[in-house]
Amino acid sequence: MDSNPLTKKLILKTASSESEIYFGRGTLLKAGLLCGTRFRGRRVHIVSDTNVAPLYLSQVSMLFEENGFTVTSTVLPAGETSKTLDSVHALYEDFVSTTLTRADLVVALGGGVIGDTTGFAAATYLRGINLCQIPTTLLAQVDSSVGGKCGVDLKSGKNLVGAFYQPHMVLIDPDMLNSLPEHIFNDGMAEVIKYGFIADKSILEKLESNLDNDMISDVILRSVEIKRDIVMQDERDTSIRMILNFGHTIGHALEKLGGFHALSHGQAVALGMKAALQLGILLGITEKSTIPQLNNLLDRFELNQEITYSAPSIADALLNDKKILSSTISFILIKTPGEAFIHNLSLLSLRQLIVEVLK
Ligand SMILES: NC(=O)c1ccc[n+]([C@@H]2O[C@H](COP(=O)([O-])OP(=O)(O)OC[C@H]3O[C@@H](n4cnc5c(N)ncnc54)[C@H](O)[C@@H]3O)[C@@H](O)[C@H]2O)c1
Repeated sequence: MDSNPLTKKLILKTASSESEIYFGRGTLLKAGLLCGTRFRGRRVHIVSDTNVAPLYLSQVSMLFEENGFTVTSTVLPAGETSKTLDSVHALYEDFVSTTLTRADLVVALGGGVIGDTTGFAAATYLRGINLCQIPTTLLAQVDSSVGGKCGVDLKSGKNLVGAFYQPHMVLIDPDMLNSLPEHIFNDGMAEVIKYGFIADKSILEKLESNLDNDMISDVILRSVEIKRDIVMQDERDTSIRMILNFGHTIGHALEKLGGFHALSHGQAVALGMKAALQLGILLGITEKSTIPQLNNLLDRFELNQEITYSAPSIADALLNDKKILSSTISFILIKTPGEAFIHNLSLLSLRQLIVEVLK
């Protein structure tokens, strides 16, 4: 938006879709205007959770009403337990009862849980309805709201049902993070650190300095740009997009061992990144100086926990994952900060390396 230098527009274009991403402090205030210009329908259904709704739902509803929309909403209980097919079913029923058509709009107002659940409902209702993501956590702003992955958990595992469905619009306003509890903000920092290690070491340098609000905005924008660029090259996660999994392979095993509540996602990814660096050092690929650099950042954002599980149990949790379908795994390694690549490892060598690194 030229009229507001604080708002920047990025386009994420894939073979079948185009996502408009608006970024900047104060961008939320333009939600009604931007959506009013882009979408034909005049009904909007906003989905939020019980923590976010009291903070933002009436303001966001008003912004849409001022631009001629009729607004309805669903508020789901806050937390991962809402990321279910039951919630999706409840959303479908609400969409039907408010007579939402394909010309109308669904808005996900919340963190990754609301974004993933609402995204999946929008992807499948009437075979796809207009979707706008308004991410309210750091993790959702730098990661889950961009790139089109959406879905829900099953009792037998996280994210086992889902789709690739690019949101038509994403509105990222870093000012919305002001209400975020510090530990949830820090949790999202694990993903920002990840972007630094995989693609742009200047993010790490900024995080190492005295971070102010402008710098936080800068690192969020840079993270979004990196994700946008990667998704545009590989929407379906078959090649380069896999580098976004840096730290997540071992991190996911740690989350699983803790029943998905002992460690937060960010803490697990943080420890996963550390283990991945150590593994790369053992293979003679990763620069040794990456470990103190990462440790310093993890300490800063209170993400440096002790790993309390045994190395063999971590290897078992990783290798028994339902999503592993072959005898090799694409493991993401870092050579030097800003430079990542996919390293194919047999499951047997990965097991041996994990046991060696985490003993
Ligand atoms: N789709 C993807 O590409 C992708 C990527 C990474 C993670 N995820 C998913 O994202 C989910 C985690 O997302 P999350 O960390 O945002 O969790 P979340 O959505 O549960 O939000 C964390 C907590 O912060 C509260 N909250 C949100 N915004 C707030 C605000 N501005 N002020 C005050 N409180 C606020 C929420 O109510 C919740 O209690 C997981 O389900 C994960 O699988 C998806």
